[in-house]
Amino acid sequence: MLLQNEIDARLGASLVSKKRIILAYLHKSKTFQSMNVLGIETSCDETGVAVYDSQRGLLAHALFSQVKIHAEYGGVVPELASRDHVRKLIPLIRKVMGDAGTVPGDIGGIAYTAGPGLIGALLVGASVANSLAWAWGIPIVAVHHMEGHLLAPMLEPDPPDYPFVALLVSGGHTQLVRVEGIGRYQTLGESLDDAAGEAFDKTAKMLGLGYPGGPALAKLAEQGMPGRFKLSRPMTDRPGLDFSFSGLKTQTLTTLAATQGSLQDKADLACAFQEAVVETLIIKCRRALLQCGLKRLVVAGGVSANRLMRTELDQLARKEGFQVFFPRLEFCTDNGAMIAYAGCQRLLKGRLMPPEIQSRPRWPLDELKPA
Ligand code: KG4
Ligand code: ZN
Repeated sequence: MLLQNEIDARLGASLVSKKRIILAYLHKSKTFQSMNVLGIETSCDETGVAVYDSQRGLLAHALFSQVKIHAEYGGVVPELASRDHVRKLIPLIRKVMGDAGTVPGDIGGIAYTAGPGLIGALLVGASVANSLAWAWGIPIVAVHHMEGHLLAPMLEPDPPDYPFVALLVSGGHTQLVRVEGIGRYQTLGESLDDAAGEAFDKTAKMLGLGYPGGPALAKLAEQGMPGRFKLSRPMTDRPGLDFSFSGLKTQTLTTLAATQGSLQDKADLACAFQEAVVETLIIKCRRALLQCGLKRLVVAGGVSANRLMRTELDQLARKEGFQVFFPRLEFCTDNGAMIAYAGCQRLLKGRLMPPEIQSRPRWPLDELKPA
């Protein structure tokens, strides 16, 4: 917090200049019929930037993935992540603004991920975003990373209407949320231990696969024989919408130890693990839709890129008469476009904030205010 206060003091400047900028925002807020928003995502191991135009849609977006940097350590090294964001963010902003055909004067607001995430990584995005907003004299909005994921399907040609149930499945979160509108979220259930993506990553590591584990495990599972192993569907035999995935990981390890550990054994186990996670998630989605009396489901976050998950949910939706919405594959995992979109919706509603560094490693989604 000391660091944050210090940066705030340096960047946020004096009370007088803060007041001047807030007044400028209030004045501009009357004219926010449309705007271009620069979105900045640096919460973990991807530097994502986008320009979203409230009338024309997404103008440009790009991503620097840090996969190669972290791969040799088998997981994200927070300090290396922060340093790479420092290196990549400004060149990426230049590129994306160029691709979008925009100059600073065209940008009406800046949206950045303020949390949850790795504190050092978040601070890089927050500092750059606040510096640019200050220099360009434009409003800024601190975006919740999971709200970004939740709204990512809104970037697609056929977005869902509100209300809907959202399943958020990423590396750090597994949540079922009732969504009435932007910022109107009620958590229905969540993971009591590992997030679904985390379970994929840890299990992949046990199977000797590299980082990031989710996609690697899913790829290996394609060579597996379905049905050879049957793993449990945790917490599906009792009421409620919470999840628990850490036992499944242990069960996979025990099952592996009882085999020869050949590549085929591993592929068969990967297949069983993927089926167990996907079926567990789907059982709870179905239950949440019934409980809420809703027929629209959004699935977002890194694990929503899982092919088995997408196919099975599409089939169930057709059979049971509900609609399911996913982001396109590249917007399932972290990206700047979802942050630009979420920030734009809040800025258009006049949700203006004073220029200050906001970085929250933990930030419950329920704490958000409606736009
Ligand atoms: O949303 P995201 O990019 O970052 C966080 O906010 O955490 O999600 C990353 C997570 C990782 O755990 C990764 O292994 C998982 O999503 N993931 C997948 C797949 N693609 C990414 N898990 C299963 N199958 C996939 N195809
Ligand atoms: Zn994410």
